[in-house]
Amino acid sequence: MAYLLGIDIGTSGTKTVLFDEYGKTIASSLNEYPLYQPQIGWAEQDPEDWWKATCDGIRAVLAKSGVKPEDISGIGLSGQMHGLVVLDADNRVLRRSILWCDQRTTAECEQITSIIGAERLIEITANPALVGFTASKIMWVKNNEPDVFEKIRKILLPKDYVRFRLTGEFATEVSDASGMQLMDIPNRCWSDEVLSKLGIEKQWLADLYESQEVSGYVSKEAAEATGLKAGTPVVGGGGDQAAGAVGNGIVKPGVVSSTIGTSGVVFAYLDKIRIDPQGRLQTFCHAVPNTWHVMGVTQAAGFSLKWFRDNLCRDEMNVADLMDTDPYVLMDKEAEKVKPGSNGLIYLPYLIGERTPHLDSDARGVFFGLSTVHRKSDMIRSVMEGVVFSLKDCLSIISDLGVEISEVRASGGGGKSKLWKQMQADVFGLPITTTNSSEGPALGVALLAGVGTGVYKDVAEACDVAIEPVEVQQPVPANTEVYSKFYSLYCQLYKSLKNDFKDLAQIMKSI
Ligand code: XUL
Repeated sequence: MAYLLGIDIGTSGTKTVLFDEYGKTIASSLNEYPLYQPQIGWAEQDPEDWWKATCDGIRAVLAKSGVKPEDISGIGLSGQMHGLVVLDADNRVLRRSILWCDQRTTAECEQITSIIGAERLIEITANPALVGFTASKIMWVKNNEPDVFEKIRKILLPKDYVRFRLTGEFATEVSDASGMQLMDIPNRCWSDEVLSKLGIEKQWLADLYESQEVSGYVSKEAAEATGLKAGTPVVGGGGDQAAGAVGNGIVKPGVVSSTIGTSGVVFAYLDKIRIDPQGRLQTFCHAVPNTWHVMGVTQAAGFSLKWFRDNLCRDEMNVADLMDTDPYVLMDKEAEKVKPGSNGLIYLPYLIGERTPHLDSDARGVFFGLSTVHRKSDMIRSVMEGVVFSLKDCLSIISDLGVEISEVRASGGGGKSKLWKQMQADVFGLPITTTNSSEGPALGVALLAGVGTGVYKDVAEACDVAIEPVEVQQPVPANTEVYSKFYSLYCQLYKSLKNDFKDLAQIMKSI
């Protein structure tokens, strides 16, 4: 039996999962680390924490499973996308990583757009300049920390820093590298034009692989640190979205995923590249050779409910602790008691600005329509509904781009909640499918490792072996009708508040 290891370096922790060749989970470990927010809108992590979590995770799954390290055929790496890791000439980390959800780079996005030109930028990188993307973070370091910038000799993404520690190689792969905004996306290579115009040296960037290709082998030092066998192959892997899509079987036309993790993503496979000329959707290389994907992103999806839980659900957290259950299960029960529409309460999930469809880092969260009838249960339900309205924004633009949608597969933490999935079925007016796997990105990159090391012929075969739909939730027409009224108002609210969000941002900057 071949075993495959998938490691997903997420925002809240690293998930390490050992699978057998049928995609069955043999053992898993979640190792958490802190997120630093030194200023409002900033988000940073220490790359050393990722490496430590990876070593702890690998040791834990080896110990739990009893699988011999030499029986692991290959390793795949996935991770939070866009994060900037900069190394000096001695390969030392120069500053904490600036993460995907950090919002500090509005001025740098304007700078990038004016240097390259809005249309040309979308033509080459398939996307407008976005605060989340790595290019604007590099420009921020250049503009604000010139002493750090001048020492840069290598630029890596979070999972690729872990790859460097694991193999000694500076390598990345097309799906994650697409989110750096330094690639020529139609041609799947680094863009000399973008690099030279932004003053970023090509030699600072890692070697670019397809996601299933072997990018290096576990080094002797890493073998000592992790318990793995030196020489175990490590494939390219994927950014968490593309990897999660592979782990959910989104590798053919018509099947779309809707993922509620920290962020929320609607993701569609493309066998020919398609680009939203308005830049509201992201087009990136997919983790399947010669294919692309398009995705819409809600910045604070699961993050909205987590924020609500951490600040307003202390009782639920205490009770859940006593009952040895998850506070979200109790919050679901409270929300279930409320009718669709949350008694007229609408939540806008813009806690950390919004990507799709507004591309507005000044947007902020809103509860609209609060009255004395509302209780905490209405608020929980309206947070969940607001997140789904935002995912509907993404789905609508994908469909307007002419992408076929015949099946929506739910995944991520939100994919575990039956209520949240039913809301998606009702709001989208489409059946929602759940698959047998809940490991998403870790499974996706383990399957890619299987392809790269010859366990499977290709990604499609790997997905056929490991992934099957197990449940379908149908929309309830009466609910769809109610939600369509609230969704219209939800869309209107952003338009009404757009300028007020800007004013608020100005006030906050001035005090
Ligand atoms: C994708 C994105 C997030 C992060 C963190 O573009 O920003 O999915 O990768 O999960």
